[in-house]
Amino acid sequence: MSEKSYRIIQWMTGDVGQVGIRHFADNPVFDLVGVLVHSKDKVGKDAGEIAGIAATGVVATDDIEAIVAMDADCVFYTPIIMDVDTVCRLLRSGKNVVTTSGFFHPTETFREGGEQIRAACSDGGTSFHAGGIHPGYAGDILPLTLARVMSKIEKIRVLEVVNVLTDAPLDHIDWLGFGKEKDKFLSEPTILGLGTVFFAQSMYMVADGLGVTIDNVTSALEAAVATEDITHELGVIPQGTVAAQRHEWTAWVDGTGLIVLEALYTTTTPDKLDPPWSLGKTLYRIEIEGDPPTALTLEGVERADGTMTHPGYDWTAMGAINAIPDVCDAAPGWHTHLDLGLIQPRGLVR
Ligand SMILES: NC(=O)c1ccc[n+]([C@@H]2O[C@H](COP(=O)([O-])OP(=O)(O)OC[C@H]3O[C@@H](n4cnc5c(N)ncnc54)[C@H](OP(=O)(O)O)[C@@H]3O)[C@@H](O)[C@H]2O)c1
Repeated sequence: MSEKSYRIIQWMTGDVGQVGIRHFADNPVFDLVGVLVHSKDKVGKDAGEIAGIAATGVVATDDIEAIVAMDADCVFYTPIIMDVDTVCRLLRSGKNVVTTSGFFHPTETFREGGEQIRAACSDGGTSFHAGGIHPGYAGDILPLTLARVMSKIEKIRVLEVVNVLTDAPLDHIDWLGFGKEKDKFLSEPTILGLGTVFFAQSMYMVADGLGVTIDNVTSALEAAVATEDITHELGVIPQGTVAAQRHEWTAWVDGTGLIVLEALYTTTTPDKLDPPWSLGKTLYRIEIEGDPPTALTLEGVERADGTMTHPGYDWTAMGAINAIPDVCDAAPGWHTHLDLGLIQPRGLVR
């Protein structure tokens, strides 16, 4: 394997960015050279302290100009929301950008921003790529990977199950709308519903990969209510309010719902839900109807000591980070998963 190493700037240190710091500090393929934060209380701290590991010698700053001026091969860009102008500045400054925050596939929604990104790549002689777990892996790379061994495909169903109480930050309970009256919840915009254009990128990537054209994407939403109070560290989801939600997005091709993405987010077990949806544990499952009918489940497993933390943020960060060497070594441009082909992760066996 290549001995080449890549100088990395970590842009923001939230859940995903902290995985980045831990990985860049541990994998000799990467050399962490800069860290940008937003939170004042993180400024001046060693990146290792922020990410819960030993000191790295890299001190966090909130000075964006200093970071833009810094010399590095790649910025691992993980803010809350991607700012196209900022990404273009980084690309024009001669740094490649890999992100988990958006622009996974050039759908119509991302056409204009994509053109700006391509122009910045051309000016800076740099490359851009977006990856993650979903979008960016479970709903696009995995179905296409399974398609490789199929002879006929009639329908692709991608199921995401998230137990929010056990496997997500607890502030997500309010943020996702749990605890609302069902009618109110179903009549208002939802966070996941607002993400439709992001998830749609996965469906367009799969369709492009299979050489078919999506006519339109439709969405549906259902909610289940708690049959008893559900208490958690930050409060309670009252009996009778929304305790689980099910989003379904369907990509239609020639009158057939060819690709269905389903997101089941719950806060409890089926026995405390009406209707008693059987939601199971946090996982991704790909089911392909066709020949031969085929399915694949992606789930975290217990460590040797019996502990188990859902690896969603690790998967998110690593899905993008493992592409960094290929992106840095590629010709300038926006490289989607279809452009990059089979990624060869470096430094994982250590
Ligand atoms: N594709 C996927 O599979 C996938 C999955 C999960 C997340 N994501 C995306 O990955 C990105 C990072 O997610 P995350 O969970 O790490 O995010 P996060 O923890 O919510 O926040 C990221 C960081 O943004 C900074 N920030 C907070 N408030 C800010 C403000 N008002 N203005 C500017 N910056 C602010 C903070 O940086 P500091 O703490 O450093 O100050 C915060 O830690 C998001 O865009 C998310 O949508 C993608």
